[in-house]
Parts: sequence; structure tokens; C-alpha cells
Amino acid sequence: MKRFLSGITPSGDGTLHIGNYLGAVKQFIKLSVNHDCYLMVADLHALTTIQNKEQLQKNTETLILNELTLLVGELGLSLPNITFFRQSDVPLHAELQTILNNVTPLGLIKRAHAYKDKLAKETALDDINMGLFNYPVLMAADILIYKSDLVPVGRDQKQHIEIARDIAERFNKIYGSGKRKAASGKTVFTLPEPYIPEDVAVVLGTDGKRKMSKSLGNIISIFEDEEIIKKQVMGTFTDPTRIHADDPGHIEGNMVFTYLDFFGVKGKVEELKGFYRRGQVSDMEVKNYLFESLLKYFTKARESYKELNSNPALVQKILQEGAEKARSFAEKTLTEVREAIGLTNKYSFFSYN
Ligand code: ADP
Ligand code: TRP
Repeated sequence: MKRFLSGITPSGDGTLHIGNYLGAVKQFIKLSVNHDCYLMVADLHALTTIQNKEQLQKNTETLILNELTLLVGELGLSLPNITFFRQSDVPLHAELQTILNNVTPLGLIKRAHAYKDKLAKETALDDINMGLFNYPVLMAADILIYKSDLVPVGRDQKQHIEIARDIAERFNKIYGSGKRKAASGKTVFTLPEPYIPEDVAVVLGTDGKRKMSKSLGNIISIFEDEEIIKKQVMGTFTDPTRIHADDPGHIEGNMVFTYLDFFGVKGKVEELKGFYRRGQVSDMEVKNYLFESLLKYFTKARESYKELNSNPALVQKILQEGAEKARSFAEKTLTEVREAIGLTNKYSFFSYN
């Protein structure tokens, strides 16, 4: 079975919106049918921006609950093929990052978007921390430590996967031949491929212009109160050229129909599209249908949310089992890495085997 790792950072406030669901969590669920899945909450990555204890705790708890609930809502508590864990529960990621730093060219990291964008905005270099600069190397460690064949992410993360691949190639080249070859005789790292389905690579926000993102205030929430979700749906961009309900309307670029293609019943959506084009249905009616469809689609998840929220011991147990399984995989990889680079020698007294 092929394997993948993916992670979500508990930035913003830790809640997930339908863009995160379509671009990330839904892909994890689909792939879990025939992949060995490692899914982590990337709390170490959040340290680049969140430097407040209470906020980090709260965000991480929120994201754990949001993501786990979506997974459990569709797959049940047994979460087949899924190892769900918190990044900081597997400190070996940080050890691998330290090692990978040494095979990573500075130029490669200087070209990374997160750092470049920040550099363009900030006047002082001192306002950029090393965690942000080095973010792609930690991400490479996350991916490579599980020998991931693929990495499902939104398009904004594509460059990071390419960097991870470059780093893996360099490591394999430097340590993959002659005496320095890994004990198994094979190269240590698998080269990961990004997995980015075109239709959800970038889910646009309710403004119809920019990527759906918490920080842009153009989201549709999953676990908020119904009134809030209703408000978000009612504020969704439709067709600005259409003034009256009996004017013919456009479907293309109309966000209500974009979301309905994912969450509505196909036959009903096609029928509504026909009515809309002919000016036989109002914006209000299609928005109401979207609102109902969303609530229906996420009914089970919204129920699981209540269940898991009132049972922290259960959430803890899932995370603990996940961390143990992830650690055991990561330890095997680190053993190979240590051997390949020469950290083990005749005085070594400890082996993870
Ligand atoms: P946000 O931009 O709302 O803060 P994150 O950056 O935390 O979201 O993203 C978490 C995951 O969800 C990542 O895998 C990211 O690629 C994916 N994702 C986020 N927003 C979208 C979107 N609008 N369309 C598709 N995927 C998205
Ligand atoms: N950087 C990713 C994001 O912001 C989260 C992440 C951390 C990740 N490590 C990863 C994603 C490894 C995929 C693989 O969404």
C-alpha cells in the first residue's frame, strides 16, 4: 500500500472551513481507502507566528477537534488506515530537520514563497525568524521521515513538496553510494510527489475572487452555529449582472453553484442551474438550497463534534496511539539515516532496531 503524510498548521484560530475540507481533509478521506495515511497537526510549524502559550494551546485543541471530527464523521471511530497525531509528539521530526539542514542549499530555501513574501512585506530582516525561513526543511523532514510516496495538499503548498523532493534527492545522492550507502543497500528516502486534484487546488472564497481563507474573511464555516453559516451563505457572490429574479443568470464564476457542485444533489443542482439560466429561480432560493445542503452534508460531522468535544479522554487516546505508531516508523527511518551519515560507529551502544 502506498503511504502519505499530510499536515495542517493550527494557525488562524484552528477552525476549518469548507476550503480546507475540499482541498485537504476530503482528499485524506478519499485516499485513506487504499493508502497508509499519516495525518498530523503541525504545531511546531505554528510557532513561526504564534508565540503566545494560551493561543497555541487553544488553536491546537480546536484544530485537533475540527479535523478529527471530520474524519470520524465520515470514517467512524476506527479511522481505518489513518494514523492521526500531533507533530510535537514525534520529536524525531526535529532531529531529521537538523540533519537535513546540512544537505539543503541556502539558495533553495531563499526561493521559498513563505519567506520571500514575508521579505517583500517586512523592512527589517530581524522581523523574520529562522523558524519561518527554515519552515520548508521541517516540512521536508515531516514528509521524508514516513517515506511518503505522495503528499496531498492545496496548490499553495506545491513548492514545499518540490523542495522536500530536492532535499531527498540530494541526501540520497550524497549518502547513497559506496561505503556511505544505507545498511539496506538502498537509498534512504523515497521521492515524494505532490497530490493536488485540479478541481479543489484552490477553492475560491465567498467573494468569488480570492482563495477561501480565514484571514480574508471569505469563508464558509463547518462547525459554527447555523445562523453564522446562514449569514456566510447569504453573503456569497453570485451574478452581479442579474438584478431581478426573472433576469437570466450566469453559472460560471457564481460561487453558490461552485459550492453546490460539491455539496448538492447532482440532479437537483442541474435542474436549478437550468432555472437560474432562464431566470426562473431567485438568488435567495439557490442560497437556501446551498445552506440546507451544507447542513445535511456535515450532519454526521457536526454530531461527532459534540461527541468528541465532550470526551477529551477519547481524543487523547486517539492521539496517543497515533503518536506511538508514528514514532515507531520515524525511529526506523532515523536509524537508517544515522547509519547512512556516520552518526553510528563502533562505540555506539544504542540502536532503535
Ligand atoms: P487558511 O488559508 O484558511 O489559513 P491553511 O493554510 O491553514 O488555511 O490550510 C490548511 C490546508 O487546507 C492546506 O493543505 C491548504 O493547502 C488547504 N487549503 C486551505 N485553503 C484552501 C482553499 N481555499 N482551497 C483549497 N485548499 C485549501
Ligand atoms: N505547511 C502546511 C500548511 O501550512 C502544513 C504542513 C506541515 C504540511 N508539514 C507538512 C503539509 C507536511 C504537508 C506535509 O498547510
